[in-house]
This record gives sequence, structure tokens and C-alpha cells, in this order.
Amino acid sequence: MCGIVGYIGNKQAAPILLAELQKLEYRGYDSAGIAVYGADGIRVVKAQGKLENLVRKADGGAALPGTVGIGHTRWATHGVPSETNAHPHTSDGGAITVVHNGILENFREIKQKLTRRGYVFQTETDTEVIVDLIDYYYNKYKGGPLDALSRFMTRARGAYAIAVLFRDFPDEIYVARKDSPMIVGVTENEAFVASDVPAIINYTRDVYYIDNLEMACLKAGGATFYNLDREVVEKQLVTVDLDASAAEKEGWEHFMIKEIHEQPRTVENTFRRYVNGGKVDFSECGITARDLTPSRIVITGCGSAYHVGVALQYVIEQLARIPVRVELASEFRYRDFIFEKNMLVIAISQSGETADTLAAVREAKAHGIKTLAIVNVQGSSIAREADNTVFTVAGPEIAVATTKAYSAQLIVGYLFALEFARASKKMDGATYSALLGEIASIPSKMETILAQKEIYQQFAAEHVTMHDVFMIGRGIDYAVCMEGGLKLKEVSYVHTEAYAAGELKHGTISLIEQGTIVVGVLTQSNVYEKTASNLEEVKSRGANVVGITFAGKKLSKEAASVNWTIPHIAECFAGSLLVVPLQLLSYYVSVQLGLDVDKPRNLAKSVTVE
Ligand code: G6P
Repeated sequence: MCGIVGYIGNKQAAPILLAELQKLEYRGYDSAGIAVYGADGIRVVKAQGKLENLVRKADGGAALPGTVGIGHTRWATHGVPSETNAHPHTSDGGAITVVHNGILENFREIKQKLTRRGYVFQTETDTEVIVDLIDYYYNKYKGGPLDALSRFMTRARGAYAIAVLFRDFPDEIYVARKDSPMIVGVTENEAFVASDVPAIINYTRDVYYIDNLEMACLKAGGATFYNLDREVVEKQLVTVDLDASAAEKEGWEHFMIKEIHEQPRTVENTFRRYVNGGKVDFSECGITARDLTPSRIVITGCGSAYHVGVALQYVIEQLARIPVRVELASEFRYRDFIFEKNMLVIAISQSGETADTLAAVREAKAHGIKTLAIVNVQGSSIAREADNTVFTVAGPEIAVATTKAYSAQLIVGYLFALEFARASKKMDGATYSALLGEIASIPSKMETILAQKEIYQQFAAEHVTMHDVFMIGRGIDYAVCMEGGLKLKEVSYVHTEAYAAGELKHGTISLIEQGTIVVGVLTQSNVYEKTASNLEEVKSRGANVVGITFAGKKLSKEAASVNWTIPHIAECFAGSLLVVPLQLLSYYVSVQLGLDVDKPRNLAKSVTVE
């Protein structure tokens, strides 16, 4: 949801800004721009479309000499994707230049005020309002950059991470943040700002986490942080442990296929981190025995993280017999939820920055409810605000469509299901150990599926003209259909509906035509026959049915024309294996269609606006 970067140091800024932006392109890619403070003042270059257009236009950075600069890659919120609306934006008169991630909610009223003061707006963006408001305070009160920024922060509603160049201060970059992510990195001679760590990891591992409603002044070799009252805030420098190569394609054609193949390792690393000597151990995350016996659980998240919650709902209820409710974070935050004392809210998020999920955590905390986050990105907002955080060990995920983070989240959820069951005495030791063993078998079984990826590649090639697809199943199988359906929609733009198999007959079955592809997922033995009957119902109406079952099961020819299988595993963990063929199918259809797999249209990986 927009990425911002900044550099100040002893090297040419533009090539570094462009390289940083390349690492943030997953946050938005409808336009990009950089501003560099050179010998002849601040120069701005912007281009519509992917970053490569900007790189070309800026001649790889050579077109903008100078050692201080800021940059931006955009996911449009206010104003169409265009070069005019692209960041950086510069104030009337050119004193202030800004890049912004977030949404200024009261931009209309501020725009009116500034228009009355004679400001003329060139774009439809809320960011231009930010620029001119800072300019207004800067000129009116003449208190310098921090004064102007703190006045802006007091006036602004909404979310923002901004980096600002002041024409009068050529050796400084100013930044400010509320609710949108931002980190500051330093070396002996340089300072960086970025929306997240992978953007700067090739330059430094020493970072500061800037908190909400804080500002900073970056100079070559350091940064000073301030609160809203412009008092200096002391911060600890954190050395981040991140594998820089994880953010590179390393020979794979796309990040998505690389990350699909990383899943066995991701699952194993996540499992190993929290399982020692045959027991789950979340003590490093501060989880106590009391946290493991909630009366109810609410799981919340967005997109794929929500789908993890849907799958875990079945697993936790089945194993631990604790009532679980799953809520989309965007619904949860506004629904006036009925909280009860011993409830646990689990928030799931890869980025740890999704605005709705963060708001859900805050809502639960405001009601005195214990919050547990399952997050992939260290230092992210949700990780810092939840009472306890368990990190998935997936490494940086670059493809916009999540794969390995989804799989890692499921594993953490399974481990919690076992712990809830153990703590509430719903499971004996032998079953606990046996199920841990089943989870441990997931990586090698994923490898078995990956070794047969040509099956899905061939199917994708033969059915590339598919337009409406239905994915149906019951229970956990349905939960996986939701994720598989989202994958196919996201990366292949194929209209897909995930449906509870038993519900299809109540209306949706009227959409089944000759040749409509229906993927039926059947691993749960208590409903196997039921779903098989549903497949027969659609097949007899002309559907082209693919069934996915455990190896050794074969659907009748009345139920399916194609039978895919996954290795056998305890049924409650089948989701971890089932998702892999659906990810591969989505990937190969997208590739066949020649689409931009890693950066599908209109999407952003980290959604920091509502
Ligand atoms: C975006 C992404 C989805 C992701 C969702 C939640 O919409 O495109 O792939 O599942 O956000 O993201 P989070 O970082 O909170 O897991």
C-alpha cells in the first residue's frame, strides 16, 4: 500500500532509491517517483506504471545527481494512477517535497482551508494537501521543519508515513509517522528511511523503529527522533536478522513459484522454532499456561490470513473443544462485538501492518481482551501492539499473493490447537505426540506434491480459457477452497467461487454449465460421501470436475473426470497439503495467460489503509 524510501549519505542517492523501491514494489506499482537534492536544487522524476518505467526515465538514477533523496511506489487511493498523481509531490513554490504512505482522512476540509489561503492544487491526491499544509505552517510560524511537521501531525487525521525534503535544509531528511509503517536505518556515513526492512537490508542491518506520532531528522550517519512536543526521544538501535537473499529470485522465474517451493522449509523452520523435545514451547513469546485455557477464541485477519483462521476454526474446535469464531478484521472492528472476560483474540497477519487487523487488535485490547498475534514481520505494528506475538519463520515474502506465509501461519495455529487441547485436558499424551508427528511430516509430503507439479502445469495449459471456476468442499476442505479460490482470482483473474459443497444446491448450482470447471476437495472422511454426491450432481449437469483426495482414494467416473491426490495425513492437517496443488494451478494459469504473477493488477501486498 505504497512504499516510501529515503537516502542521505556520501553516495549518489538516485540509484540507491531505485534499488530500495524495487524491494518495495510489492506495496504498490501503479506509478513511482524520486526526488533528489542536487547542486541545482530538488529535482523530481516520476513515471506511471511499474518501477522499470521510472528506472528508464531516470537513466538508472544517473539523471538525478545528488546524495540526498526520497522515493515512492504508489498504490492509488486518492486520484487515478497517473504521472501527475504520482509522488513525490512538491508545494506551491517548491519549498517542500513529500512522499507519503497512508490516507489523510480530513484532506477535504484542509484542502478547502488551503484553497482559501491561495494554494492551487495540481493533483487529486491527499498527499498534495499534506505538502501544502506543511508549507503553510512552515511559512506562517517560521519555526523550522520540526515545528511545521508537528503542527501538521496535530491537524492530520488518518494514517501516514511521510518523508520530507525542505529546500532550506539540503543536508537533512525529515520523517513522521502515524499508523503507517516506517523504519530508519543507519551506517557510519549514511541514513535510510523505508516502509520496511527488506528495502534497506543490502545497505545496513542497523535499524530504528520509529513509533506512532514521532518524527525524525536524518543526517548522513545518524538520526534524531522527536515526539510531538519536539522533545528528543532516545531509541535503541536494533540489528535485524534477515536473510538478504530471501528477497531475491535466485534463478526462479517468479517470486511466487520460488515461495511455493520454499514452503517445506518454511513449515519445518516454524515447527522447529516452537517444538522442543516432543513438546510445543511458546515460552519465548511470553505465552503462559493461563493463556492456553480461554473460554472462547476469536480469530481475525484479512485475505489469506482470514482463510487460515477459517481452517483453524475447525482444527481448534475439533481438537480442543473450545468455541472459535472467525471474523474478517474489517468487520470485527466495527461490529460492536460482544466480548467476554476470558476470551482470546488471535490476529493473523503476514505483514503485521494490515490496517484492519491492527484496528481489530486495538479494539480487543481496548475491551481488556488478551490479544495474540501470529505475524511474519519482526518489528511490525501488530507484533508490537499485541499482548503476545508468535512469529512465523517464513522469511520475506515478496510475491503479492501469499503462499509460504499462509502455510507457516497454519503450522503455528496447529501447534496452538494442540496446546489448547493439552492445557484443557482434552487430549492424552499419546494423541498429542502422534499429532505432533503428523505436523512434522508435512514438509516431506509437500515435497511429494511439488515433485509432481507438471500435473497442474499441464492442466493449466489445457484449460487456460477457463472463465468461471467453482471450488467446493466441506469443513477444512471448504476452508482450503476459500484460499485456493482467492489464489486463482488474484493471480489469474479467473472468476472463482469457493463454496461449501452442501450449499451449492441452494442457488449457485444454476451457474453450472457444460464445461464449467469444478474443483472438489474431499479429505474429511465424515463428509466424503456427501461431497462426492455433490460432485455427481454438478458433473451430471455438465461440469468438468477435478477431485482432490488422499492418495489411495479414487472418485467414481460419475463424480470426477480428473483425480488429483495428496499424501495421507491426519485429516485435521490436510489443509497444509491441499493448498499446494491449488497454489500451483493458480500460478500456472497466470503464467499461461502471460500475466504479471508477482504483481497482479490493482493489488498490494501490505494494505495499510481501510
Ligand atoms: C492483502 C494481500 C493478501 C493478504 C492480505 C492480508 O490483501 O494481497 O494476500 O492475505 O492483504 O495481509 P497480511 O499482511 O495481514 O497477512
